[in-house]
Amino acid sequence: MAVKDFIDTNDFTKEELMDIINLSLKLKRCIKNGYYPQLLKHKTLGMIFQQSSTRTRVSFETAMEQLGGHAQYLAPGQIQLGGHETIEDTSRVLSRLVDILMARVDRHKSVVDLAKNATVPVINGMSDYNHPTQEMGDICTMTEHLPEGKKLEDCKVVFVGDATQVCASLMFITTKLGMHFVQYGPKGYQLKKELTKIGEENCKVSGGSLLITDNEDEALKDADFVYTDVWYGLYDAELSKEDRMAIFYPKYQVTKEMMAKASPNVKFMHCLPATRGEEVVDEVIDADYSIVFDEGENRLTAMRGLLVYFLNQNAKKKIKLHK
Ligand code: CP
Repeated sequence: MAVKDFIDTNDFTKEELMDIINLSLKLKRCIKNGYYPQLLKHKTLGMIFQQSSTRTRVSFETAMEQLGGHAQYLAPGQIQLGGHETIEDTSRVLSRLVDILMARVDRHKSVVDLAKNATVPVINGMSDYNHPTQEMGDICTMTEHLPEGKKLEDCKVVFVGDATQVCASLMFITTKLGMHFVQYGPKGYQLKKELTKIGEENCKVSGGSLLITDNEDEALKDADFVYTDVWYGLYDAELSKEDRMAIFYPKYQVTKEMMAKASPNVKFMHCLPATRGEEVVDEVIDADYSIVFDEGENRLTAMRGLLVYFLNQNAKKKIKLHK
């Protein structure tokens, strides 16, 4: 393993990411069959949260417990990060106290600095730039719901709406894995050039493709997965509900009519939490083709794989998953 920390999936090759995804899915099968490999016995995860979280917090903590380890929740405002103790000192001290760290931070630089100074692995639990653990869970979910006869590389993934960090992350991983990514969003709320440049570089290596458009028919045609996220980033919540509706509604609200323009076997995805009635309507998020709760479950799937991988150098070769 060349990279110690999991800050950005762009730091990894397609093969490395697929190793982690396959490990995650194997561990899920073990646990579904009642076997809990105690691969993290005596290991402690320190969980730094500068913001609230349901899925990320609970899935990290459950993953540690299921695999024999322990997690410590370091709540918003309850440790010195961002206070008078520097990030450098916080990283050095926590590295002496725990085996691995995760952090959900307001600003991306904080998790980068934490990783730079930590001697233990650091996992990015979301920043204002990206959400890589969400990416890994989403690929696990897509793998489980592939259209018949298709591989990941054959799939078209359409993100509808605002260029949130989840949108950027979905673009990063799909282009890295050779998939076909589209953002369907209004001008001014589309992925910025510096981000699409990264995706275009990924595509050159992987054979994937990347399109940013405000044309609905072009975006939705043959889509295998339609994905959306809230219309306000966690970090730019100054937009009022009226402002948000004026920008995105009704064109970018995911409705039954929009879904009907995609492939007949399309699946609907959302990182959650959803603002029902804004970016998506109930009859889509509650439809049979909605896999949003599988996505929620696969946050745990991905956390198990990530924790085992980053706590075991060359894990994929050494990890024994059978009794
Ligand atoms: N999708 C996601 O990260 O959810 P939480 O904010 O609840 O962790």
